[in-house]
Amino acid sequence: MTWRPESWQSKPAVQQPTYADATTLAAAVEDLRRLPPLVTSWEVDALRRQLAEAEAGQRFVLQGGDCAESFADCRPEIITNRLKVLLQMSLVLVHGMKTRMTRIGRFAGQYAKPRSADLETKNGVTLPAYRGDLVNAPEFTAAARRPDPQRLLEGHMRSAMTINFVRGLIDGGFADLHHPEYWDLAWVQHSPLAAEYQARVDAIGESLRFMERLAGTDLHEFNRIDFHTSHEALVLWYEQAQTRQVPRKSGWYNLSTHFPWIGMRTADLGGAHVEYCRGIVNPVGVKIGPAITQDWLLGLCDALNPANEAGRLVLIHRMGADKIADHLPRLIECVRKADRRVLWISDPMHGNTQTTASGIKTRRFDDILSEVTQAFSIHASCGSRLGGVHLELTGEDVTECLGGARDLLEKDLERAYRSQVDPRLNYEQALELALKMAALRGSG
Ligand code: PEP
Ligand code: CO
Repeated sequence: MTWRPESWQSKPAVQQPTYADATTLAAAVEDLRRLPPLVTSWEVDALRRQLAEAEAGQRFVLQGGDCAESFADCRPEIITNRLKVLLQMSLVLVHGMKTRMTRIGRFAGQYAKPRSADLETKNGVTLPAYRGDLVNAPEFTAAARRPDPQRLLEGHMRSAMTINFVRGLIDGGFADLHHPEYWDLAWVQHSPLAAEYQARVDAIGESLRFMERLAGTDLHEFNRIDFHTSHEALVLWYEQAQTRQVPRKSGWYNLSTHFPWIGMRTADLGGAHVEYCRGIVNPVGVKIGPAITQDWLLGLCDALNPANEAGRLVLIHRMGADKIADHLPRLIECVRKADRRVLWISDPMHGNTQTTASGIKTRRFDDILSEVTQAFSIHASCGSRLGGVHLELTGEDVTECLGGARDLLEKDLERAYRSQVDPRLNYEQALELALKMAALRGSG
């Protein structure tokens, strides 16, 4: 059967909203289909080339952002702070790993979430689950929880504003990024590794100043930096409507983002999400957890990368610090034996979620660090290579994950817990994780 952007509709589609009215849905999808795209095909092609280089060991991928963006957080200070922490982390990693970086934001479209149940019951009232701002609103009222197709358009609009602002910030340059002395590093003093962290940050500043002296001018590295977007390709009406053909190129591009990925709950081989993603030119990711079998994994490689091209398929493993050693070696071996080309990325967040005694969803900094550390060493000992990390983080001072230099405790979680869904590393924890990874992989 010839693939079309709407072919997915003939397959079982899990995790989709149930819209009450097919006519208003069709009208919204048609409107979305006519709007300009958010990214261009040549940017998508360029990212594929970069991911092929990462597969060859010439780059490292930093992918990060919110678990779910919210429409309300489409604000300049939130976008600026998130971009800043990602760029600071990438500078730390460039310095420590001595390799080029590919930066991919988990933003400008990360508005939809898979849920464990379709419905939620509170005090005897049952309503549709909150599926992200692309679908409905989080308040527990019938009106808020009703899936509204107009939100597909609102999501596109807010994604466009986000990406527009990110492009502007990067073109304008974030001058103070080149000056780690302006970074917010007060937290460093709380770490037993304060001296080591400070030395690394000083060394980054020194290298930048040295290069500026050599160049005889300010470094404009960040003016030329490329930044990519990604989101979970979950609500397929949204993805379908932005899937286009472009002049003088073959194939269909999803132009709502550079890098869509399939979540763990929607990675069934016969399902709609794999069907949709197999037909687009973009690089695609798939989240894989402990339940993945060898047949399933090879089936994903066959379906999503039949020509076995470099830069096309990214396997994002999210096992949990206590499970990665049991599962990752067999998966690496299976892919190696079958001679399949993939880029391996570690998501050390989603296998390490736990609930506190008082019912708050959290993650421990040490578990996150442990999973990344093991991911590097398992790949190395299996003759493979970890090509990147996928993180949930924010540039804000939230208290959602435990631990880190300030050693956030359960009682601290109440102070600034803002996530509607998964707990994110805050600014300090994100930067600390980058410093630790740089020490793991660098000369330090
Ligand atoms: C996510 O990335 O927020 C997510 C739901 O991940 P996973 O599909 O790996 O559970
Ligand atoms: Co999440």
